[in-house]
Amino acid sequence: MDTLSKFSKHTVALHWLIAFAMIGSLAFGLYLEELPRSPDKGFLIGIHKSIGVLILLFALYRVVHRLRSKLPQPLTVTPLWQQRFATAAHIFLLAGTVFMPISGILMSVGGGHSVGVFGVELIAAGEGNEVIGNIGGTIHGLGGKLLILAVVLHVVGTLKHHLIDKDGTLRRMLGARV
Ligand code: HEM
Ligand code: HEM
Repeated sequence: MDTLSKFSKHTVALHWLIAFAMIGSLAFGLYLEELPRSPDKGFLIGIHKSIGVLILLFALYRVVHRLRSKLPQPLTVTPLWQQRFATAAHIFLLAGTVFMPISGILMSVGGGHSVGVFGVELIAAGEGNEVIGNIGGTIHGLGGKLLILAVVLHVVGTLKHHLIDKDGTLRRMLGARV
């Protein structure tokens, strides 16, 4: 159970596991986008897809956990617009952990490619479907860029709390009682 002064180990562990996996996947995805077609690229895309599917499992679990409990409440008196902005960012970040892997899966299925986790096939390669592929590709490409912007704002907000306001917002997400 999260309280105002302390977050559960569960909340903290899920946040950091998914945060680092998402930042890694966003960076890895951008790198893949620039890489010319080659067998090596195919291998790397396989790793990107495997990690992405695993993220989806943890992210769905976390969304269910989040629907049962409220998003973090501010520790100090904060202007209403800032609270609303932080909450909107949290909702978008949470949504991103689900729409990125799902759009990636749609993109792959639409392109006729298989989807699996480190060699264990979950969806076999098929005929593909251009419309599904394009919808997935657009959400994955545009959503990825918007998510990077949201993560940057989220980290800047955290640093402002920690370095300027000097409150316990970051320490609370590191598991400390504040
Ligand atoms: C879970 C989080 C994920 C994140 C944050 C992520 C992020 C990204 C980003 C930023 C790109 C580059 C933008 C683009 O070309 O569209 C990308 C490319 C790609 N992603 Fe993901 N992705 C995730 C999961 C997945 C999953 C689950 C799949 C498929 C099952 C997938 C398949 C792909 C493919 C095929 C590309 C294109 C690589 C290329 O040929 O340029 N992604 N990803
Ligand atoms: C190094 C990078 C990151 C730092 C320093 C960071 C820090 C924090 C902090 C301090 C909070 C608590 C905010 C509060 O109490 O009001 C928080 C909450 C949150 N963060 Fe991050 N974060 C990072 C990356 C990410 C990423 C990449 C995502 C998702 C894509 C994310 C998603 C969330 C969500 C959804 C919450 C709301 C609470 C929850 O559901 O766990 N964060 N973050």
